[in-house]
Amino acid sequence: MKKIAIITGASGGIGQKFVRELMKEILDEIWVIGRNQRRLLVLKEEFGEKIVPICKDLTEDTDILSISDLLREQTISILWLVNNAGIAKMAPSTEFSISEINQTIDLNCKAPAELINICIPYMEKGAKILNISSASAFLPVPYLNLYAATKAFERSYSRALNAELKPSGITVTAVCPGWVDTAMLSKEIDGKKVHFPGIVAPEKVVKKALKDAKKGRDMSVCSLYVKCQHLNVKLLPQKLTMKVWLYGIRKYFRGVGNE
Ligand SMILES: NC(=O)c1ccc[n+]([C@@H]2O[C@H](COP(=O)([O-])OP(=O)(O)OC[C@H]3O[C@@H](n4cnc5c(N)ncnc54)[C@H](OP(=O)(O)O)[C@@H]3O)[C@@H](O)[C@H]2O)c1
Repeated sequence: MKKIAIITGASGGIGQKFVRELMKEILDEIWVIGRNQRRLLVLKEEFGEKIVPICKDLTEDTDILSISDLLREQTISILWLVNNAGIAKMAPSTEFSISEINQTIDLNCKAPAELINICIPYMEKGAKILNISSASAFLPVPYLNLYAATKAFERSYSRALNAELKPSGITVTAVCPGWVDTAMLSKEIDGKKVHFPGIVAPEKVVKKALKDAKKGRDMSVCSLYVKCQHLNVKLLPQKLTMKVWLYGIRKYFRGVGNE
């Protein structure tokens, strides 16, 4: 039986670092999923024959179902599932098209839930699921509200599922980083350079996430900065934490609630 890991959004940022770290585990194959075939092939060139590029758009139901077909064709055991693919847009809600709203919800919420259900039948005691949520899951975040709400879904879904799967020995970890230095972050908004307080390198998030997953933790928070944020939102009223956030980003957006 082949022992495998599956990593979505493996071609860039955090996902690519998961590939690097999971290469150190005893695995026969690492299935790397993303839309960009060329970038997936670059991973194979870099990390070798264990890498199995799977070019799929996870917002498409047919693509998700085709992953189920691929699994059915083989005798495999999934040791790691990393639901990492995600999209974000920081902008006033009125600037989102219907398609952008659907894509964000489909990729950040629907795809991880569907992939988990497809993969669980191939998992045994000790298998690990990691869902890359975000520190934005801790509170409502104006101008990032759609993204933050999808990440709150991922966090809540992961923690509940972890409790539900306890008897099976499969663990689920919600990874909740703050700002991470990847291509996802818009470095400029309206010509203004954006400051990301507490920003960390993706390697740091990934190493901590894998360590926490191995300990069976249902949540992974990697820096002192985010740990303090987490504590703040537990102690302070949400209206106040939203005001502090709005104060910090007021120079990038001027509009309703942020004059
Ligand atoms: N960067 C941050 O500050 C930060 C903070 C907290 C949480 N996160 C979370 O961390 C995860 C990884 O983010 P990142 O910063 O590494 O972003 P990134 O560099 O933009 O990588 C996103 C990955 O998702 C894949 N992807 C996008 N749309 C897809 C689709 N429809 N189907 C399949 N794959 C798709 C992309 O590959 P293709 O383009 O090839 O499809 C890419 O590999 C996300 O879930 C994000 O929400 C990021």
